[in-house]
Amino acid sequence: MADEEVPVHDLRTDRPTPARMYDYYLGGKDNFAVDRDAAEQVLSAAPEVRVLARENRAFLGRVVRYLAAEAGIRQFIDVGTGLPTQGNVHEVAQAVAPGTRVVYVDNDPIVRAHAKALLPADGTTAIVEADMRDPGPILDHPHTRRLIRFDEPVAVLFMSVLHFITDEEDPYGLVAAFRDVSAPGSHLALSHITTPEGNADGAESAADVYKKRATSPAILRSPKEIEALFDGYDLVEPGLVNVPKWRPDDPEAARSGDSVWMLGAAARKR
Ligand SMILES: C[S@@+](CC[C@H](N)C(=O)[O-])C[C@H]1O[C@@H](n2cnc3c(N)ncnc32)[C@H](O)[C@@H]1O
Repeated sequence: MADEEVPVHDLRTDRPTPARMYDYYLGGKDNFAVDRDAAEQVLSAAPEVRVLARENRAFLGRVVRYLAAEAGIRQFIDVGTGLPTQGNVHEVAQAVAPGTRVVYVDNDPIVRAHAKALLPADGTTAIVEADMRDPGPILDHPHTRRLIRFDEPVAVLFMSVLHFITDEEDPYGLVAAFRDVSAPGSHLALSHITTPEGNADGAESAADVYKKRATSPAILRSPKEIEALFDGYDLVEPGLVNVPKWRPDDPEAARSGDSVWMLGAAARKR
């Protein structure tokens, strides 16, 4: 069955989804009452989550610009892409290098529905509805095969998504599955929530809302656990840092970035 013929699956309007809650934090309108209610519960435990979401989007933009402009990457796989918003990967990358190819991957059917409506019709991008816990079908998908040449450097992005994968589901193994098919000189970039030094109770309570109510739990990992995801890669400067501190456009504004308990980095495959 061609992708275009795949029906929109159960949208899970009965339970909050990470994609729609994130859309709410960012001020979007693609969310339901059940998402807003859970997101408000998160925000009352940890009001800074709205800043985390905004800083994460800004980090994503800077990383993609770096990968396109400085690392020379011309093809991206964006895993856990989220609902289309401003500064999507193809927009940032194609502003640097027109024709850059992007495969978007998400397991939330509403993401596919919106992406299909909003992505350009020029054949440079595609959306694959799939669960990253099973990388094989993503790597073998006709869209991936059409857009990605694995004998050339590719950037794989896991932005604010690996914290939805439990240890039992093996986030390290799934990142490695993408690494193992990538050419040397390929890049990995990711962001991930961590236990904050400040509002640790708030962060735990926020994570608890996902665990009890949402379609995925949220897992806070230590800097060491997050850095281990980069096995087989060399971190590029400045390494794994609070996302506002990663190559900031305004170093002065990034000085307060330590309170943003989302870590991020980019790295080059050896
Ligand atoms: C917090 S949003 C991040 C969106 C975007 N990457 C960003 O950083 O702005 C997380 C996204 O990951 C998706 N996601 C969560 N678990 C997933 C899984 N197992 N497979 C594929 N996508 C997943 C959600 O549907 C959601 O769209």
